[in-house]
Amino acid sequence: MSTKNNTIILGIESSCDDTSASVICNEVLLSNVVANQKIHEEYGGVVPELASRAHQQNIIPVVDAAIKKAGIHRNEINAVAFTRGPGLLGSLLVGTSFAKGFALANNIPLVEVNHLQGHVLAHFIKEKDGNNHHPKFPFLCLLVSGGNSQIIIVRDYLHMEVIGQTIDDAAGEAFDKCAKVMGLPYPGGPLIDRYAKEGNPEAFKFSKPRIPGLDYSFSGLKTSFLYFLRDRVKENPNFIEENKVDICASLQKTIIDILLGKLIRAARETGINEIAVAGGVSANSGLRTALEQEAKKRKWKLYIPKFAYTTDNAAMIAITGYYHYLEGKFVGQDIAPFARMVID
Ligand code: KG4
Repeated sequence: MSTKNNTIILGIESSCDDTSASVICNEVLLSNVVANQKIHEEYGGVVPELASRAHQQNIIPVVDAAIKKAGIHRNEINAVAFTRGPGLLGSLLVGTSFAKGFALANNIPLVEVNHLQGHVLAHFIKEKDGNNHHPKFPFLCLLVSGGNSQIIIVRDYLHMEVIGQTIDDAAGEAFDKCAKVMGLPYPGGPLIDRYAKEGNPEAFKFSKPRIPGLDYSFSGLKTSFLYFLRDRVKENPNFIEENKVDICASLQKTIIDILLGKLIRAARETGINEIAVAGGVSANSGLRTALEQEAKKRKWKLYIPKFAYTTDNAAMIAITGYYHYLEGKFVGQDIAPFARMVID
């Protein structure tokens, strides 16, 4: 497989509770293996110590499976890219240490990747038989995940500028925390999405933040949702169960309205009409539909990633690593992970 014109990158992702490895050849995906950690469900959220222990158990079988699935030999890999941050430090340490060892043992360069940049560049992963429709620079990316809600101007593969972001909770956190208040298991986002399909989005009204500029805030919504349920449950202990689908639909609509309000403003202010969405919350079916409707109305060119590339995955790390590799941006064995990292 490896010839002069082929660059093969192994990507490693371990920032939170998914252990993932991927192999790409140039920009084409050869494999993307993800091991989810079910253990956190019973705790209602990710338990950092359990996450790092599970990464430790998963990392070797996951990398082995990714290399086998790609149909290559380990010595054909040109570089190893890993998530340096942001994320849980113990989890990041497992991926970082593995990548360092792999690079050293195979005498290949080591490439650091910012997880947030990875989510954005997931749009450039090519599939052998896919339609491979990618945004053109400059484009706006709405990055919505469990830890982030940002609007980014993407000027080039490695040049991005954050023009709006949450000042407190992320959109995914709002989904998950509100779901927890309703007694739903973690992660609540996909469940709210599922119930919302059957509910009336206009049934209940929740407060929306008034934050200047292009920034977001979701902590007020979470608090008002908590008080709303507490008051209704006092009157009727079965309120949540009897109104589950309407509560989910109304909550989801509020989150989508908040996200889209600022995105529409960003598109207007920047004059950019190439619009992409990324991150775990971009799997939300209501958000996808609302974006499609806005795109039609506002003549945006909209790019929505495949479900497999919305939540954490190593394919996005491998493709980002590939662009760093082309620029010769390598790091040494003294590199350490960062729990906090921003796009700059
Ligand atoms: O990008 P991601 O896998 O991890 C982070 O880097 O944060 O995002 C996880 C987040 C969780 O908050 C999860 O509830 C949310 O994405 N999520 C969804 C959906 N699928 C995942 N939220 C709403 N609707 C969904 N369908």
